[in-house]
Amino acid sequence: MSDQQVFAAIDLGSTKVCALVGHALEEDRFEIVGIGTASTHHGIRNGTIVDVQQTVAAIRKAVEIAGRKASHPLTRVVVGFAGGEIEGQDQRVMIALKDREVQESDIDRILQESRTMMGCSSSELLHTIPKSYRIDEQGGILNPVGMVGARLEAQVHVIRGSDMVLANLKRSVERAGLTVREGDLILQPLASARAVLTEDDKELGVCVVDIGGGTTGMVVYQNGALSGVAVVHMGGTAMTKDLAAVLRISQADAERLKREVFSSPGASGSLVPDDEEAGSLTGEELSDAGRRVQAREVVEARLDEILRKVKLDLDRLRQGGYLARGVVLTGGVARMPNIVSFAEKIFDMPVTVGHPGEGIQGLVDQTSGPEFASAVGLLYFARDQWSPSDVPVREPLLSEPASREPLKKEKEGPPAGVRLWNWLREII
Ligand SMILES: Nc1ncnc2c1ncn2[C@@H]1O[C@H](COP(=O)(O)OP(=O)(O)OP(=O)(O)O)[C@@H](O)[C@H]1O
Ligand SMILES: [Mg+2]
Repeated sequence: MSDQQVFAAIDLGSTKVCALVGHALEEDRFEIVGIGTASTHHGIRNGTIVDVQQTVAAIRKAVEIAGRKASHPLTRVVVGFAGGEIEGQDQRVMIALKDREVQESDIDRILQESRTMMGCSSSELLHTIPKSYRIDEQGGILNPVGMVGARLEAQVHVIRGSDMVLANLKRSVERAGLTVREGDLILQPLASARAVLTEDDKELGVCVVDIGGGTTGMVVYQNGALSGVAVVHMGGTAMTKDLAAVLRISQADAERLKREVFSSPGASGSLVPDDEEAGSLTGEELSDAGRRVQAREVVEARLDEILRKVKLDLDRLRQGGYLARGVVLTGGVARMPNIVSFAEKIFDMPVTVGHPGEGIQGLVDQTSGPEFASAVGLLYFARDQWSPSDVPVREPLLSEPASREPLKKEKEGPPAGVRLWNWLREII
C-alpha cells in the first residue's frame, strides 16, 4: 500500500540541519511523521561544509530526533544543499526516430547525451531536467513518449556543482550512518519550488527565492518549464553579523534581536517596526531611538543588497518574459515582517510568502513555516526518484510509538508535586 512507504530527507542548511520522515499518501500528499532539527553551529558556511565533524554531529542529532518521532530509523535519504558554485546550462540534443514511437529509453538516451555534451563527470552532475521536446516540426511538447516522427529534439537543462563540495556533502551524510545514492543530492531552491508551487504557477511564470541563513537560492519557471537556477552566497546570517558589528553586541544577541525585536510589522511599510511601535518591543540594547533607526537601516541595507543580486539573476533567467505569479519567498528570512512590500518595490512584481503546508498533514505545525519548504520538497524528490522496490515500508507498531513518550522521562525524576515536597524537606 502506498501509504506504508516511508521517505526520508536531510536538508543541510547553513544554520540548521533538518531531517524529515514522511509517509506517501494519495494525490501527491505526505503525512509528516518525523522531524528533527539541529544547529549546524559553524559546520556549514554559505551552504558549504567547512567542518565535517560538526556537520556529522548535527546530522546525527537531527536524524536521531526525527527517527524517534517517526518510530522508524532513517537509512536512505535525499539530501538538499545550496553550496559551492552552481552552473546551469541548456543543451539541445537530437536523436533519429525513423517514424517509430518514442520510448522511455529514448528519453534516457537524450539525458545521457546532454550530460556528455556538458562534459561533466558523474561526481559533479546534479540534475538533468528536460525543458521541452520537438518532434519534426511540432515544438512545445512536454512528454513525447508514445508519439511518432522522424526525429526527436530536446532542450535539456543540466545543472552541475563542484565535485569537491558534493563529495564532502555525501561523505558527511554517510559518516552519520546514512545512504545517499546517485541522483539523491538535490539543489535546495528546486526542492523549495517543488513544495510550494503548483503546475499553474509554473505555467504562468514564477520565481521562487529561498532566503536562508548563508545562501539565497532561486529558480525560475516559464510556460511550465524550468528557465534556470542561481545561488547568491549570502542570507540572513549576514544581517545578523552586520547588526552585531554596528551595535557592538554578540552574534547571539544580534540574532535574538533580529527575530524578537523585529517580529511585528511596522505601519510605515518599513521592514522593521517604526520607532513608536518598537517602543514596547525593544530590549535594553535598543532603548536609544537612534540605535533603533541604525538597526533598521542595517537590516534593510543587507536585505536590499541580497534582493538586488537576486534581481540581476532573475532578469537574466527570465529573458524578458513576464512572470504572472511573480516571486514566491521561502527560507527563514521570509518570516521577516513586511518583507513582501519591501521585496515588491525591488522586483516590481507581486511577491508572496510560500508555505509548504498545502500538500502535507501530520506534523504540520512544525513543518509549514517557509524555512521548511526545502526539506518538505526533498520528500517529493525522493518519491519521484526512488524506485518502488527501494522504498522502505513502515513497520507495524508493536507498542506505543516512542515519540509519544516524553523524551528523557527517566531523568526528569518524580512528578513535580513530589519534587516540590522533597525540596521543601531539604530546605526546612
Ligand atoms: N522570524 C524571523 N525574523 C527574521 N529572520 C529570521 C526569522 N526566522 C528565521 N530567520 C532567519 O532565517 C535564517 C535561517 O533560515 P533557514 O532556516 O531557511 O536557513 P538554512 O536553511 O539553515 O540556511 P541556507 O539555506 O542558507 O543554507 C537565519 O538567518 C535566521 O536569522
Ligand atoms: Mg535552506
